[in-house]
Amino acid sequence: MDLTSSTAMWCAIVVLLVMLLATQKISRARRMSCIDPQCTSQQLPPVVNGVALLRLLPTLLKEGLPSMANDLYVKYGSVFTVSSFGLKVTLLIGPEVTVHFFQGLESDISHGNLLEFTVPMFGKAVGYGRDKATRIEQMRFHTEALKASGLRSHVHPMLQEVEGYFAKWGEEGIVDLKLEFEQLLMLISSRCLLGKEVRENMFDEVHALFHEIESSMTLISFLFPYLPTPVNRRRDRARIRLTQILSDVVESRKSSGRVEQDTLQKLIDSEYKDGNPTTVAEVVGLIMSLIFAGKRTSSLASTWTASCLLSHPVFLRAAIEEQQRVTKKYKGGLDYNAFSEMDTLHSCIKEALRMHPPAAMLVRRTHKPFTVEKKQGKQYEIPQDHIVATPTIVNNNIPYIYRDPHVYDPYRFGLERREDKVGGKFSYTSFSGGRHICVGEAYAYMQLKVIWSRLLRNFELELISPFPKTDWSKILPEPQGKLFIRYKRK
Ligand code: HEM
Repeated sequence: MDLTSSTAMWCAIVVLLVMLLATQKISRARRMSCIDPQCTSQQLPPVVNGVALLRLLPTLLKEGLPSMANDLYVKYGSVFTVSSFGLKVTLLIGPEVTVHFFQGLESDISHGNLLEFTVPMFGKAVGYGRDKATRIEQMRFHTEALKASGLRSHVHPMLQEVEGYFAKWGEEGIVDLKLEFEQLLMLISSRCLLGKEVRENMFDEVHALFHEIESSMTLISFLFPYLPTPVNRRRDRARIRLTQILSDVVESRKSSGRVEQDTLQKLIDSEYKDGNPTTVAEVVGLIMSLIFAGKRTSSLASTWTASCLLSHPVFLRAAIEEQQRVTKKYKGGLDYNAFSEMDTLHSCIKEALRMHPPAAMLVRRTHKPFTVEKKQGKQYEIPQDHIVATPTIVNNNIPYIYRDPHVYDPYRFGLERREDKVGGKFSYTSFSGGRHICVGEAYAYMQLKVIWSRLLRNFELELISPFPKTDWSKILPEPQGKLFIRYKRK
């Protein structure tokens, strides 16, 4: 890891800790010292203090955050509390100790106020701008809007966008795939999620506005979402303009009675349990948050897939051969069923996401104490009003679950090995699990397979850039720098 990125990473950790202090989380975290009578009977997790963390600094600087987290896991096991600057965060690693983290009731464990930074991004009408009951209903709207049954209708528009995009590439050339995927995924999101008004008439402006809001996803904005920094001010201006554009689209559909086949329409048609329909502001906030949840994560997934696949010729060949088999079978054209049969490609993407999960750390706040039991049987009490985190980047690399976890090996998900299943329900956490499992997983895989199927069938691809390092200074860690590839039309 070079100095710039490791320094950025270290700063990121410090900023994160300061952030938690600064946003009053410290006052609550201090209550962890087991003053609750319910938690006196159990032992608290071992504590890793600032001095122990400092000893790991060389590992952090030389080998990066996952190595440091892994060292802590090896030394302290699957449950331990990191204590620094007076703040305590308990890490839960592996399927044995994360069941309650993922499955606990919202009243027992939730995101609490940890996602407050999303309010100025999507507005007060949705998500963490609303009370818990409304938020849970709005999560249902997202789930229903992305149901697998509706996914079939997205395949054709996805195909059209992808074919149109790659038709513009020349006979041969060099491109930065990271940039290409970002643009292509915004086109697909516009078409399938936002709808044709935006896609056909105002794509460029909407894309630029989304980009402006996305750029505010820095640790400083996460730390101080309302501070009038230039980034936050640009974010606010962009959100106001985007809200205006999308509100006009929604109002025009409502007043004309026009009905479209996109996700925006599903959100317009959503109803609360009391029979009230979603308001215009709610529809706009819901569609914006959906695009943010899906676009960046998918473009990172695609970039990591490119990095892994193009540096592993055996799996690249296997994925190409699968394309030949499937296209032969579906002579009339690829459809939902054809993409669902692309198991090798699916595993290649899944393996890239195992090693490079865009959401490297998932966080919750406890509202009631609970007990976790380690594999060896030892139990610990996790107190009420405490921050807990599970690092997907470590969960996905546990050696007793994944054979040679540092090796890119998509075959580990095949029927004979099923490494993600034999370790238990929460062995593979790139899409989270349980109550907040990613509702866009099927949609994400479909759009990624549509993109990669086209690339593999139509182009010879060669990675020119070195395999990218991870930029840990971002809220969603990403491949550092550009990812140049050489392509040649087949
Ligand atoms: C490879 C791509 C993707 C990855 C790796 C990913 C990952 C995740 C993860 C880890 C979470 C849970 C966070 C937590 O537990 O705190 C999540 C939640 C969510 N994702 Fe995805 N996601 C992807 C694509 C998508 C897409 C394409 C959409 C929508 C079109 C989407 C919509 C959502 C929504 C709405 C939630 C919130 C669920 C809830 O809180 O109940 N995601 N995603």
